[in-house]
Amino acid sequence: MFVEQMFDIEGLKKQKNAVILSHNYQILPIQTIADSVGDSLELSMAARDVEADIIVFCGVDFMAETAAILNPNKKVLVPSTEARCPMAAQLNADMVRKAKEKYNAPFVAYVNTHASVKAVADVCCTSANVARVVENIDSETVLLGPDANLAWYAAEKTGKEVIPVPEYGNCCVHQSFTVKDVERARIEHPEAEIIVHPECRPEVQRFADFVGSTSQMIRYVAESGKNGIIIGTEIGLIERLVDEHPGKEIFPLRTSVCSAMKKNTLDGVVKVLREENNVVRVDEKIAVRARKAIERMFELC
Ligand code: 13P
Ligand code: SF4
Repeated sequence: MFVEQMFDIEGLKKQKNAVILSHNYQILPIQTIADSVGDSLELSMAARDVEADIIVFCGVDFMAETAAILNPNKKVLVPSTEARCPMAAQLNADMVRKAKEKYNAPFVAYVNTHASVKAVADVCCTSANVARVVENIDSETVLLGPDANLAWYAAEKTGKEVIPVPEYGNCCVHQSFTVKDVERARIEHPEAEIIVHPECRPEVQRFADFVGSTSQMIRYVAESGKNGIIIGTEIGLIERLVDEHPGKEIFPLRTSVCSAMKKNTLDGVVKVLREENNVVRVDEKIAVRARKAIERMFELC
């Protein structure tokens, strides 16, 4: 079945001059057939540099929107329109406008936001470059949303005042990790290192040996001399790392699944390539302004 679907996908890709981009949390078969797999930053760069006519984006809504914003003349398709990031839904353009008025400070929109939010932000960031963006922005006070844990991480890294908007925005997948999980993991695997995503709670980040984006964690595991590594992020990435490093002992901090990321299937990829439906559309006026915030991110880094 998998071989048959792969064969269909390869044929359709050639016929339609299409490429497939996949986030690190996608199911393994999708990561396997993708032309490019990465974290949000790498996928934004891949989307910017793509030369195909069609991009099939396997991730969640805000990622596909970013690809569409950067490629107004290409068709961006998603295998499932139900793959929507619940954290991105926690911030809207009005909240950004009000916060900017209240604090008179620049707004850094986490890339996990809708186009309408990016359009009113000063700059975007991802989990991989948030510290550099905040460091390089010309203000000692910065607003950042919707992830309050990422805002805390950026403040720790830069020493700047980073005000989260909304106050308690978070990703349920990473917010679910607690200090108790860390304590239990330390007892069960005393020799192992702990690495976590910056969307985790501050108290979990504080206990970790390394904090980074999904791709930064992939590189950390590949380069670490330690045999045992405990990882605090979405389970799909951990399963992939277990596969890729049979000689290492890799454990999840606890099993946590992003159901939005799992809406995409191989069947969905075949179907969307055949039918060219599920086209991602962004209002042109919003796209122009959102593109500026994304490009400013590339400039600042
Ligand atoms: P990365 O940019 O680190 O891949 O994170 C995206 C994401 O949605 C994490 O929950
Ligand atoms: Fe959104 Fe969290 Fe899923 Fe990432 S893991 S897509 S932030 S819900």
